[in-house]
Amino acid sequence: MQGLDELRGKYIDQIAGAADEGALEAIRVAALGKKGEVSLKMRELGKMTPEERKEAGPALNALKDEIGSAIGAAKSALADAALSERLKAEWLDVTLDPRPARRGTIHPVSQTMEEVAAIFADMGFAWAEGPQIESDWYNFDALNMAPEHPARQEHDTFFMHRAEGDERPPHVLRTHTSPVQIRAMEKQGAPIRVIAPGRVYRCDYDLTHTPMFHQVEGLAVDKDISMANLKWVLQEFCRAFFEVEQVELRFRASHFPFTEPSAEVDIRCSWEGGSLKLGEGDDWMEILGSGMVHPNVLRAAGVNPDEQQGFAFGIGIDRIAMLKYGIPDLRAFFDSDLRWLRHYGFRSLDVPTLHGGLSA
Ligand code: PHE
Repeated sequence: MQGLDELRGKYIDQIAGAADEGALEAIRVAALGKKGEVSLKMRELGKMTPEERKEAGPALNALKDEIGSAIGAAKSALADAALSERLKAEWLDVTLDPRPARRGTIHPVSQTMEEVAAIFADMGFAWAEGPQIESDWYNFDALNMAPEHPARQEHDTFFMHRAEGDERPPHVLRTHTSPVQIRAMEKQGAPIRVIAPGRVYRCDYDLTHTPMFHQVEGLAVDKDISMANLKWVLQEFCRAFFEVEQVELRFRASHFPFTEPSAEVDIRCSWEGGSLKLGEGDDWMEILGSGMVHPNVLRAAGVNPDEQQGFAFGIGIDRIAMLKYGIPDLRAFFDSDLRWLRHYGFRSLDVPTLHGGLSA
């Protein structure tokens, strides 16, 4: 039969060039529809001699099949392309966390408390606690500060209310963590090695003082504990906490009613240009008070001072946080300014450990 090759070439080209399903359908109708070119050729078979038909029939059928399956293949190629376009357009990252970014941070004071606890735990100190509303006895008397003792005045104490006519001394917001020394020794006796971190209160307010602040008390009592042990423990603590080989410390003779002898410790720092830097400049920041526990204190807590002796210290947690993290104004710690908290806060899953380098 004449012209089959031309037909084949024409339709295969058209199919290859069809842009969408509609165009393919039009081609199908033009070729294979009732009045399509191939169908019309089929009709011519009736007028042929049997010999001619024998040759032309299979050729026409083959052409019909070929065009049919080319259209089918082109249709499914178009459908595939459409699907992959859609998948690209509607792409969704199922690994993305649908929750909003976590905004909460660990406050520098909490972080510092954790760091301090990790360092002292490594030196064998357990964690002790006491109440923030404290009796006059624990906050003062038991610490060798009788009611008329002048040191009481230095504490700028917040007193709790007493009912009219109640003559007992009022409770106080504890002015230091030292009362926990008494509570811990009452509970455990000696030997003992504890730290007691927590909030304390004094009526005071400037760049390095706020009415509520934080201390960590330390206490070690045993048969032969000396001032040398105290000095070593404090130096080791500072080395580990400030993460430097050598910190410049100044041990200064001082006085506390509950220790004898007593020493305060200062750290060299600079406040130049409104920023606070550790280990530079000519300023000193007082970070702790310490000394050998006074025999009267041991006695008040039920420990025999003829058999036991020890040291105690009270570190200003906020102060050492300021020094370590270069935070020049203590008052900002308690302003709850979100910008400040985001800037100075720590990520909640980074728990400080000695082997992890604490603040790393
Ligand atoms: N309690 C003292 C203060 O708040 C610090 C201190 C604690 C001093 C233990 C000596 C021993 O200033």
